[in-house]
Amino acid sequence: MRSLDGGPAMSLSESPVKVTPLTPTLGAEVTGIDLTRAQDAETVALLRTAFQKHLVLVIRDQSGLSPDDQVRFCEFFGPLGARSRPADDRREGADAPAEVMFVSNRKEDGRFIGSLPEGEMQFHMDQCYTERPARATCLYAIAVPDEGGDTLFASLCAAYDALPGDLKRIVDDGRARHVFSYDSTNADAVANSADVRECVQPMAVAQPETGRPALYVNRLMTREIVGMAPDAGRGVLDRLIDLVERPEFCYRHKWRVGDLLIWDNLCTVHARTDFDPAADRHLRRFTIAGAPLKPA
Ligand code: SIN
Repeated sequence: MRSLDGGPAMSLSESPVKVTPLTPTLGAEVTGIDLTRAQDAETVALLRTAFQKHLVLVIRDQSGLSPDDQVRFCEFFGPLGARSRPADDRREGADAPAEVMFVSNRKEDGRFIGSLPEGEMQFHMDQCYTERPARATCLYAIAVPDEGGDTLFASLCAAYDALPGDLKRIVDDGRARHVFSYDSTNADAVANSADVRECVQPMAVAQPETGRPALYVNRLMTREIVGMAPDAGRGVLDRLIDLVERPEFCYRHKWRVGDLLIWDNLCTVHARTDFDPAADRHLRRFTIAGAPLKPA
C-alpha cells in the first residue's frame, strides 16, 4: 500500500488501523480506530512507532471522546504531564483530571475559562523555557471556527538534516536561551525582566526513543545563543528559524470537530493562524511528561 504522497503507509495484518503519511517530512493520519475503546498491545505499538516516525498523528472523527478516553490515549506515550500554568480555581475542567488545560476562547462571567484564547501564534515548542519540556502535546477539538485557527507544524528533524555545514558546527555544540513569552511584540522586554521564566537548552536534541537529532530553536521563545555576541547570535538564529519554517518541512492542520492530534514536542514546533474572536474555539489539551533534554 502507498500513500498519496508516495510514502509508505503502515498497518497491522488483521487490523483496520492504518497510518498514512500526510507530507514527506511530518504528519500522518491514523484511520480505522475508535479511541473511546481500549486498544490492544499491537495497536499501541503501531501508534508509538508512527508517533516517533511521523512526529504528528492526526486522528479524525473521534466525536464524544471523554477526558478519560483522551487520557487513556495519552498514556500510550507516557505519563501525563502537569499543567505549566495555574488552573485558576478549576473553572476550566471540573469534570476532568487535574492535568487538563483548555485552549479556549469561551468565557464565563466575562473571563476566559481557558488559555491561549485568541489570535495568531508564532512557531514554538511548549515549555521550552523549563528544565523538563513536555514530551508530547495532545489536543482534542470540541468546537472550531469554520475559517482560521489552523495549527501549523514544522519538523525539527528535517530542519536538522538540512543544516548547512557552518550552521551545523554551531548547532552541534551550541546552547540557546529560551524565554517564556507568548507575546511576540514585547519579547525583548520580557527576556530582560526580573521575573523571567527561562531555560538554556541544547540546540541539537535527541529524540529520546531513537536518538534522531532535532534542531531545537523556535521563533517565539528562543532569544539568544549562549556565548555568541548578540548581533552575530541573532543573525544565526534568524537563519536557523527560516530553515525550520521552510514550507516543505511543514504540515498545516485545518481542524474539524472530533479531531485528536498528538505531536512530538521536542522534534516539532507549532504555530496558529488568526481567527475571528467571535467564533467558538474550544480544544481540550493534555501533555505527556518530559525529562531534561539530551543533546544529540
Ligand atoms: C498551542 O500553542 O499549544 C495551541 C495551538 C492551537 O491553539 O492551535
